[in-house]
Amino acid sequence: MKIMKALEKDIDEMCTIGRTVKYFKTSKGETIFWTKKQISNWLNSKDDVLIVAKNEGKIVGFILAIFHKPTGKAVIENLWVDKIQRKNGLGTRLLDTCVKELHTKGSIYINALVNMNNKPIRDFLTKNGFDKGYAFYWMART
Ligand SMILES: CC(C)(COP(=O)(O)OP(=O)(O)OC[C@H]1O[C@@H](n2cnc3c(N)ncnc32)[C@H](O)[C@@H]1OP(=O)(O)O)[C@@H](O)C(=O)NCCC(=O)NCCS
Repeated sequence: MKIMKALEKDIDEMCTIGRTVKYFKTSKGETIFWTKKQISNWLNSKDDVLIVAKNEGKIVGFILAIFHKPTGKAVIENLWVDKIQRKNGLGTRLLDTCVKELHTKGSIYINALVNMNNKPIRDFLTKNGFDKGYAFYWMART
């Protein structure tokens, strides 16, 4: 298993996977994941952190984070581990790698928005040092 920075060549696979993860959906609309163009732009942003886990060349996990340098705030946007690899510590390894990288960049505050029905991710984040705050509605527009 290799954990590494995501590369341009990983984009297609990441997008294909991302579209299948129901917990990435934030509303009843169509959009469930980032476009290839968005991920490509994101990869080229030096402050952000996009990490993949690969097993025999296949992506089996990823974590995507945004870092806002002026405030030191980072957001974990997406975290995913392949079903057959779960409960084996890979999510924790991805998160640890991401947090370490964010701290190196100067992050002082890291948060994540989680679907209230997604107990695995809540348990996972609690176990990894995240405190639970208030529940909010997801409001969006273009
Ligand atoms: C959340 C997720 C990334 C965890 O990955 P993982 O590789 O299983 O995580 P780890 O093995 O490091 O798990 C560590 C802890 O997380 C919690 N956890 C993980 N999966 C869980 C599950 N299905 N149910 C309850 N708790 C779970 C447990 O506390 C676990 O500790 P334990 O093994 O001592 O019980 C994975 O379940 C996933 O990809 N879910 C689907 C995508 C998703 O919901 N992403 C979040 C939206 S951004």
